[in-house]
Amino acid sequence: MKKESLNKKINIFTPELDLELVDSLIDFEYPNEFEDIKDLIKTLISTKKYKDENITIELFIGDARKYIKGLKDIDIVYQDAFSSEVNCELWSVEYFKDIYNCTSKDSVLTTYSIATNVRLSLYEAGFEIYEINPTGKRKQTLAFKSKVDIGAKYIDIQLKKQRNKEATAIYDKKL
Ligand SMILES: C[S@@+](CC[C@H](N)C(=O)[O-])C[C@H]1O[C@@H](n2cnc3c(N)ncnc32)[C@H](O)[C@@H]1O
Repeated sequence: MKKESLNKKINIFTPELDLELVDSLIDFEYPNEFEDIKDLIKTLISTKKYKDENITIELFIGDARKYIKGLKDIDIVYQDAFSSEVNCELWSVEYFKDIYNCTSKDSVLTTYSIATNVRLSLYEAGFEIYEINPTGKRKQTLAFKSKVDIGAKYIDIQLKKQRNKEATAIYDKKL
């Protein structure tokens, strides 16, 4: 967005559990591609926030499960947790229900995960599930609050459940 000088205002809310990881980025050798946003990143890491005329960013250090309960009217969710085997609390029905509640009517959730249990969790939380493959090399999952006509493949979860009785959604046992 910065590169393309789009005249849009966006607010970004980004939770991260690992403060050590965030702090380590201060001395990171950023590749040339990051030149335009190097200062933005450094400000964000040291103050946990950033603001210019078009962009505000809030970096929350702590558990995303708590953080998202305080958000509302979010339009786009980039779901980029570790895999559901190691980071199951961020792929659970409970977490996706909280995401459902803090997002706007026409919002989209996008994720790299195409795992059936992840899609079942999204579905149980109220989302309609779609699949895209923009580069032809890697499928991705999109989730919407209602059915959409965007040329993406609709994933019929009811049918999947009938065909694969073993598949189950993920529930957060730590809650
Ligand atoms: C796959 S990484 C993606 C990070 C980031 N999107 C990126 O591209 O650099 C997943 C991140 O989620 C963080 N994480 C794991 N559990 C979390 C939780 N409960 N709340 C907030 N962040 C969490 C991990 O520390 C890790 O940095």
